[in-house]
Amino acid sequence: MKVLLVGAGGQVGQELEALLAADQGVTLLACDRASLDLTQPQAMAERVQAFVPEVIINAAAYTAVDRAESEPELAEAVNALAPGYLAQAATQVQAQLVHISTDYVFDGRQSVPYREDSPCNPLGVYGRTKRAGEEAVIAGCDRSVILRTAWVYGAKGKGNFAKTILRLSQERDHLRVVYDQVGTPTWTRDIAGAIAQILPHLGPDTYGTYHFTNSGVSSWYDFAVEIVALAASMGVPLTLQQVEPITTADYPTPAQRPAYSVMGCEKIADLLGHKPPHWRQSLSKMMAELCG
Ligand SMILES: NC(=O)c1ccc[n+]([C@@H]2O[C@H](COP(=O)([O-])OP(=O)(O)OC[C@H]3O[C@@H](n4cnc5c(N)ncnc54)[C@H](OP(=O)(O)O)[C@@H]3O)[C@@H](O)[C@H]2O)c1
Repeated sequence: MKVLLVGAGGQVGQELEALLAADQGVTLLACDRASLDLTQPQAMAERVQAFVPEVIINAAAYTAVDRAESEPELAEAVNALAPGYLAQAATQVQAQLVHISTDYVFDGRQSVPYREDSPCNPLGVYGRTKRAGEEAVIAGCDRSVILRTAWVYGAKGKGNFAKTILRLSQERDHLRVVYDQVGTPTWTRDIAGAIAQILPHLGPDTYGTYHFTNSGVSSWYDFAVEIVALAASMGVPLTLQQVEPITTADYPTPAQRPAYSVMGCEKIADLLGHKPPHWRQSLSKMMAELCG
């Protein structure tokens, strides 16, 4: 199977590249931003026409949730317009498209897990542009899968909450972390594994939208406490004495975030034949890799 991976430099993209490059059944062309800028539709169409992939995976995005509030045009170009161009390019060569999206398409006002068909109502620029990207994919390519994930962390890539907490717990004695936003931390390797497992099943029966996160529920505070506990148990020298739970109101940010963004993953569990691993189990594996 010929696979074009775009966004290969990101935290999910790097895990996907490592996994798919090792797969004998996959001929992979992995492009990071330097080799393929998704805001250049002509370059993108040419690359797709030259390689003629059977599947395109879009792991690229503008993911700076707060910065997006002051850079809406750039967020729109990468998150909303580029997926549309990619969808059209996929359709031209009859490729299938796997596109990654986010829990931030929801407003967080529910108190039960969001389903794939729950109404979207993003709260900020990032979520709005990601939702527009989903719509552009659906409009531009009828052979597509949209995989919404959440609270992504991994050992690879520039940075994420887990890496930041690990670093700060070696620099500070006190951290304040929000406890009134809940969701599900999700390991990049599990996301890459789910996508790799879906590839052979792509077809008319499986096109559509899926939620994929690790199992379980956490607040950012619980997530931070677990990161610190795991680091301590792995012998990392920590300066941190206390993690203080605070409210969202105590920590104002430019972008409003959903208070509750747990997503139900039954649909993808049926397809994969298993439930995603619990977030604590995956976090412990990633921390062992990071701290080992
Ligand atoms: N991070 C999260 O917590 C989270 C949560 C829910 C869903 N998601 C979704 O998961 C997917 C993967 O996210 P991630 O966490 O792996 O993000 P990431 O680490 O920020 O990676 C995104 C990649 O996209 C690249 N990119 C940005 N603009 C581009 C452009 N114009 N052309 C080509 N590439 C471009 C970035 O390149 P540069 O590094 O050069 O900017 C980066 O390598 C995204 O769809 C994201 O929306 C993420």
